[in-house]
Amino acid sequence: MNSALNELEHVSLGVMAQVLLHTQALPLQVWRSAGQINQALGTAPRHAWIVRRWLAALARASALREDAERFAWQGAPPKAAVEKLPRLYAELGFPASMAPLHNHVIECLPDLLRDQLALAPLLLQSGDPVAVLGAYQHNHFTAAINQALAARASEVRAHRDVLRVLELGGGGACTTHTVLTTLQAREKVYRFTDISALFTGAAQRQFRLEPGMHFGLLDLDQDFAEQGIEARSQDLVIAGNVLHNAHDLPRSLGQIRACLREGGSLLFSESIADNPAMLTFMHLLLSPPAGAPLRETDEAFIAPDAWRQALQAQGFQLLEVWPAATDPLAAAGQRLFHAVGVS
Ligand SMILES: C[S@@+](CC[C@H](N)C(=O)[O-])C[C@H]1O[C@@H](n2cnc3c(N)ncnc32)[C@H](O)[C@@H]1O
Repeated sequence: MNSALNELEHVSLGVMAQVLLHTQALPLQVWRSAGQINQALGTAPRHAWIVRRWLAALARASALREDAERFAWQGAPPKAAVEKLPRLYAELGFPASMAPLHNHVIECLPDLLRDQLALAPLLLQSGDPVAVLGAYQHNHFTAAINQALAARASEVRAHRDVLRVLELGGGGACTTHTVLTTLQAREKVYRFTDISALFTGAAQRQFRLEPGMHFGLLDLDQDFAEQGIEARSQDLVIAGNVLHNAHDLPRSLGQIRACLREGGSLLFSESIADNPAMLTFMHLLLSPPAGAPLRETDEAFIAPDAWRQALQAQGFQLLEVWPAATDPLAAAGQRLFHAVGVS
């Protein structure tokens, strides 16, 4: 599995190289800064961070040399072996729809970066958005993280008679589905939320027969109490691959802390570093909307130590980060975090 992961990253690095070469943004034997490369490519300001992350990834892989904040190719640039995508995605446990979807995005990358096309509508053209998001979450690594999250969720004690659970950014409900399986025998009030009604509507259809389920919109950038979540009301908050969307992470963590009872649990999964494969695919969705303020930092994902500090600052104690860095499952760069609210 880890060799498939490495190969997939290599294909994606090849795709970055192909775009930079074909558009003449960074020709062979030329030194350019990130700003000059973005200018030559015609990148929309909101996506400029993506190209800077590409340059960092290519430099880490020694495909680029970096000197005084300028870049040049080092040896032969990697090849975009996109014909490998179906095999690699299959080996990693993704459904068959992933390879053609990624391929389609790759073909459109220069137009996407220039904002001549937008990724969300492009993905919607490929079918049901819930299925598209679900496809991206269906893989061996995310499944293992969701299983581990569900196992810990099943150990959380209810403060009163029933377990109160708030799920943030429930999306395609892969996390929900796994958690509900382990909570089947528990009496619960489980509130599935997302910023998008597409996802809350789909979840409502999927889980309408499940006892104790509630569905509603919730934006993690806004005040939770104003969105109907009372202070100190929850035993457990779940966020599967969601918190990196927070515009103001300390504020969102503070909102989560405020809605948890004393000793309540926050279980969340996150990538802890860029995933080079996703840098030519889904990461374009992390750019701010056109006209909105640009990202404050190019790092979309933060390391476990930074999570520990961010959590502590908002009244959480981080109990566990899983899997350990030495575990083969850690290679995909995803981690499960378990924190509890402390006074
Ligand atoms: C990677 S998906 C989550 C996947 C989900 N755990 C699953 O198993 O399908 C991230 C989700 O976060 C939601 N999201 C993005 N920004 C948000 C925000 N500000 N507040 C709440 N949800 C948000 C998206 O709509 C999306 O459904």
